[in-house]
Amino acid sequence: MSEPKRPQPTILIAEDEGELREMIAMALESSFDANVVQAATGKQAIQAIQTNPGIQAIVCDYNMPDGNGGAVYQHLLEANLNIPYIMVSSETPERHKEFSDRKLLAGYVEKPAIMKPLIELLRGLFSKTSPSHINESPFCPVRISALLKLGVCHRDFYLKLADDHYVKAVHVNEGFDSTDAERYKQKNITHLYLKAEDQPQFLSLVQDNLTLLLETKKLGTSEVIENVFTPSILLIHKVTSTFGWSEDLRDIVRNTVAIAVKTMNENRDLRSILQKLRSQSHRDLAEFCSEVSFVASGIATAMGWSSELTYYKLALASYLQDLSLTDEQTEHYHSLVQAAHEPKNANLSEIREFKLHPVKSVSVLEKWRNAPPDVDAIILQHHESPDQRGFPRGLPPQTINPLAAVQIVAMELVNFHRINGPDADMVAFLADQKSRYQQATFKNIYNVLFSSLQMHL
Ligand SMILES: [Fe+2]
Repeated sequence: MSEPKRPQPTILIAEDEGELREMIAMALESSFDANVVQAATGKQAIQAIQTNPGIQAIVCDYNMPDGNGGAVYQHLLEANLNIPYIMVSSETPERHKEFSDRKLLAGYVEKPAIMKPLIELLRGLFSKTSPSHINESPFCPVRISALLKLGVCHRDFYLKLADDHYVKAVHVNEGFDSTDAERYKQKNITHLYLKAEDQPQFLSLVQDNLTLLLETKKLGTSEVIENVFTPSILLIHKVTSTFGWSEDLRDIVRNTVAIAVKTMNENRDLRSILQKLRSQSHRDLAEFCSEVSFVASGIATAMGWSSELTYYKLALASYLQDLSLTDEQTEHYHSLVQAAHEPKNANLSEIREFKLHPVKSVSVLEKWRNAPPDVDAIILQHHESPDQRGFPRGLPPQTINPLAAVQIVAMELVNFHRINGPDADMVAFLADQKSRYQQATFKNIYNVLFSSLQMHL
């Protein structure tokens, strides 16, 4: 099996935010027949320029630690290097004196909507200097390590067997997790491919993720999140010690939840839900949401989806999935869930109404134009089940969104803990679920949770 040929030129990306840098690199690699070198600081960027004589374009942030974008630009001028420099920042070059000599400044791209203008600028550059480097092949490479960050593949991905022979390796909407990445790594495969015709939609998904990442960074986490993120200490201790999760996970999830809460607070349509969750009568549901958020993020990490975006999507879905419930339904939430699965002695019209809450919750999201990808699927499917006996649709497990599957398993673990108390045996519970968790993402979740148990015991 051959890997994409990696001729010169090289594009240098200097950006201190790791996830953002990975995503820009992934987009550029799939658009140009070029190496992409990454730097996280101004100093690293200058070192990369000194050690890579083939660099033909520099894509550079301004604010970075250890030397900013201006220092990198000054280095080019002083070393008399004729390399086009594209500034990608939320600040304009006019604001900075280092750019008063503009001869190497090939363009300025304002964050966050960077993807399309950046690719167009680079296309323009390469069409003058080296048109053969614009990727015209029917398949575009995507680095596997970056694909893992996305978690869910919203396009089909192919494996390259020979120059003109590709076979489908990952189907649209399937999860791509650490087990898959490891399998390819062992075969020295670093890239999968997507069809050139799918690339525009793929790039727009990458842009959606970038926008989200930049906006959440802007929000910061300074706001106090009183009375919302209050998961049970016993549950946190139990799952962390059972599965050997990092002690830092709680703080990471807390920060992500803070950002999710701030997002809701700043959105007119979502603010009322937050107020509801903060009220005393919804305290139990708010605790449940926080617990699901924490356990889901732990499972996602075990799957290799340790990205802030994934945590953010899971946190948002945890708080929004039950937003359409009436006060009375909220009060009886857990007994209604149980009755929905075993409708003996239950008021059937009440249950029918309750079973529609995922559909109603997701319809509120439709008004939210910038809702992150997958959040709608998680909300819609949060009561589906690996045994196809969930609601509202009773979906077969292979059609359940991979992040929704994470959420479903997290809810099952939290419910088990809530019903049986802190001393109940979570390992035995998981072992009991083996026959239910035999397909699609559920199987992978089961395997990674069990292997982390074995490593930890
Ligand atoms: Fe629900």
